[in-house]
Amino acid sequence: EKGTYPHFMLKEIEEQPFVMRNIITKYKDENENIKLDENIRQAVLDADRIYIIAAGTSFNAGLVGKEMIEKIAHIPVETHIASEFLYNMPILSQNPLFIFISQSGETADSRGVLVNVKELGHTTLTITNVPGSTLSREAEYTLHTYAGPEIAVASTKAYTAQIAVLAILSVETARAKGIEIDFDPMQQLGIAANAMDIFMEKKDELEQMARDYLSVTPNCFYIGRGMDYHVCMEASLKLKEISYIQAEGFAGGELKHGTIALIEEGTPVVGLATQESVHLNLRGNMKEVVARGANPLMISMEGFDEADDKIVIPRVNELFTPLVSVIPMQFIAYYAALHRGCDVDKPRNLAKSVTVE
Ligand code: F6R
Repeated sequence: EKGTYPHFMLKEIEEQPFVMRNIITKYKDENENIKLDENIRQAVLDADRIYIIAAGTSFNAGLVGKEMIEKIAHIPVETHIASEFLYNMPILSQNPLFIFISQSGETADSRGVLVNVKELGHTTLTITNVPGSTLSREAEYTLHTYAGPEIAVASTKAYTAQIAVLAILSVETARAKGIEIDFDPMQQLGIAANAMDIFMEKKDELEQMARDYLSVTPNCFYIGRGMDYHVCMEASLKLKEISYIQAEGFAGGELKHGTIALIEEGTPVVGLATQESVHLNLRGNMKEVVARGANPLMISMEGFDEADDKIVIPRVNELFTPLVSVIPMQFIAYYAALHRGCDVDKPRNLAKSVTVE
């Protein structure tokens, strides 16, 4: 039920702080320690390489998951598009672990890979919002994202829930390996939830930005580096699918290698810079597009020369920034679609779960 909300998508965007807090509760035991099935912990520890398999928004969460697992737990990770992996399997490591990320747990492309790698005898784990789903039943292990039913076709809360669970898994694995972690993941998820809340109060501003930047444009670019690049991929997918604006998420440094030719007077370019090591580079990339006439919308984090930026996210641990930076992106996509008269919850040509190859 969407209650007083005009759309499920808006309701689901606004539910995200609650989802974070729900995940914190569900993944804690009575002693306030992280609750994780011993077999899952062992499966991750035994892996010499993790292969994340997913589609669409879940793939975008998998890109963030790769950064988290590698940086926190020091295990190499490859994130693959399910439909590509299915017919072009790379050379695998000796002891791979396959992690399937799927909101619905019914995506046929991902299931195809699951069937194949099970046949090869590999260990499988599904991270899903629907525990009884096909991918959940057929994988050896399941982790639940506890986001509650997601009805809008455009995925929002499932994405942040998947990232939160991947963060918990990364930290638990790191601890089991004896890697020192200087933050408490549950506390970080709580901080992210509070930071999300701030944007729930800024909807009017975000709506105005959607109006200013996206009411009439035929296209839009999102640029970021590292973690921010992954969020830009998700931001552009959100905008495309519900507003039908042609959008691209791009690595900031790559734009000048060809695609910058598309920048014209007034082309909206959203820049995202929340990562200490690359935020200045990204600002440089924004200057390059502005010099070609782009209409810049800069999003950054507190403490990163943010004075002139349109949107500033509160300071959070760098590895947790996607949980927060994606929120204004989701709102902007939502309002852009609304202003352009699109059917937000049921965009054309799309189904909520894609059960055919
Ligand atoms: C985008 C979207 C899709 C799904 C994709 C995978 O908003 O919803 O891109 O993310 O079809 O679906 P799941 O996660 O159910 O496997």
